Amino acid sequence: MELHEAIQRRASVRRFSAEPVPSAVIDTLLEAAALAPSAHGRQPWQFVVIAPGKSRQRLVDAMAVEWRQHLAADGVDAPQIAERHAASAARIVSAPALLMPCIDRNLLDVYPDTHRQQAEYSMAAQSIGCAIQNILLSAVALGYDAGWMCAPVFCGEAVRRAFALPVTLDPQALIPIGRMATAPKRRPKRPASALRIDR
Ligand SMILES: Cc1cc2nc3c(=O)[nH]c(=O)nc-3n(C[C@H](O)[C@H](O)[C@H](O)COP(=O)(O)O)c2cc1C
Repeated sequence: MELHEAIQRRASVRRFSAEPVPSAVIDTLLEAAALAPSAHGRQPWQFVVIAPGKSRQRLVDAMAVEWRQHLAADGVDAPQIAERHAASAARIVSAPALLMPCIDRNLLDVYPDTHRQQAEYSMAAQSIGCAIQNILLSAVALGYDAGWMCAPVFCGEAVRRAFALPVTLDPQALIPIGRMATAPKRRPKRPASALRIDR
């Protein structure tokens, strides 16, 4: 598939068929991630491949505590929290394949001042975004689809504990992958002309 076609076809898919994703496809997606640009060429990422079954439920349970607390603090009522949690849990548990990109803080440059350290972390977040986009576009090119869930960003410690991950890994997202069951509603995009600032 031509690159621009993959860019145009990509959309965040939230419902997948039950068809499994072959392990070779996951390997190809990770090869695409590995080719992404990164600040200083540090490649500050690891990708947890979360198998179906018990580990998915462990992830859901780990994230639920903080997630419920955050929603309650936002004034969301209990039935709505239960409904939103059930929908999110179903996406995680039923995803044919599930990747969790993590920033590896071990691979970041160390600076003596907070300003540059924050800039370094910001660049790591930009870098892993590039790697994730490579995964999303490669999935489309291979005839698959993917989504993006940001929940682990808000409860990194709980997620690390659930999977016994090193303290230096910061979970950044969950990427469900599979074949779409329902075509997503296309989100309106701002036209390129509106993004442009000429000086
Ligand atoms: C950093 C980031 C976080 C996102 N988090 C979520 C999420 O938690 N749940 C979700 O359903 N989609 C999430 N998305 C997907 C966006 O909602 C989606 O990209 C946006 O609505 C545009 O739709 P499109 O991807 O189909 O073009 C996220 C995307 C990004 C880049």
